Amino acid sequence: MRGVRISYLIDSPEYIPQLAQWLFEQWGSILGEKTLEARIKKLNAHMNRDQLPIAWVAHANGQLLGTAALRVHDLEGREDLTPWLGGVFVGPQFRRRGIGEALCATVETAAKSRGIQTLYLFTLDKQAWYSRQGWTVLAPCVWHERSGDIMYKQLQVA
Ligand SMILES: CC(C)(COP(=O)(O)OP(=O)(O)OC[C@H]1O[C@@H](n2cnc3c(N)ncnc32)[C@H](O)[C@@H]1OP(=O)(O)O)[C@@H](O)C(=O)NCCC(=O)NCCS
Repeated sequence: MRGVRISYLIDSPEYIPQLAQWLFEQWGSILGEKTLEARIKKLNAHMNRDQLPIAWVAHANGQLLGTAALRVHDLEGREDLTPWLGGVFVGPQFRRRGIGEALCATVETAAKSRGIQTLYLFTLDKQAWYSRQGWTVLAPCVWHERSGDIMYKQLQVA
């Protein structure tokens, strides 16, 4: 896709309403959310570039395409693992053009540049997609009564 840029969310706050709507539609029912409010709050907390959590947005010509984040914790009960790639989402009409992969790569590069050696994520059903990007399953997990897997990726050799 031409003209795709990936920016820190803090530099593109105009996308927050659309982002909140997308994330609410994707995960709101699993999380038991009734309004967009919790989503907006969480996005606001990701408006950082020097400390976690940090969110990025992919966009082109003023159109929001997707998002991803780097977080200290993402999965309740696994506070022993840190940090995490999370909140990976591409707008339904923009999928299968490499935007998701580009967002993951941005988070990995940012983690690497901050001296992080190992990154974690959990996924209910995208294991094959992450495997193709060099991720390995670490252990099964349960998130809001749904089963998934924790995966990890070694970013650099110590
Ligand atoms: C998972 C998700 C982020 C992927 O985003 P995406 O932008 O479609 O990802 P990519 O385009 O990088 O890769 C998707 C597929 O398109 C293919 N692809 C990549 N670039 C392509 C291109 N230029 N042309 C055609 N296909 C392409 C990839 O090979 C991949 O193939 P696969 O479906 O066999 O795995 C997106 O589907 C999504 O938001 N899903 C809902 C939320 C979700 O599940 N998030 C992950 C939570 S763990």
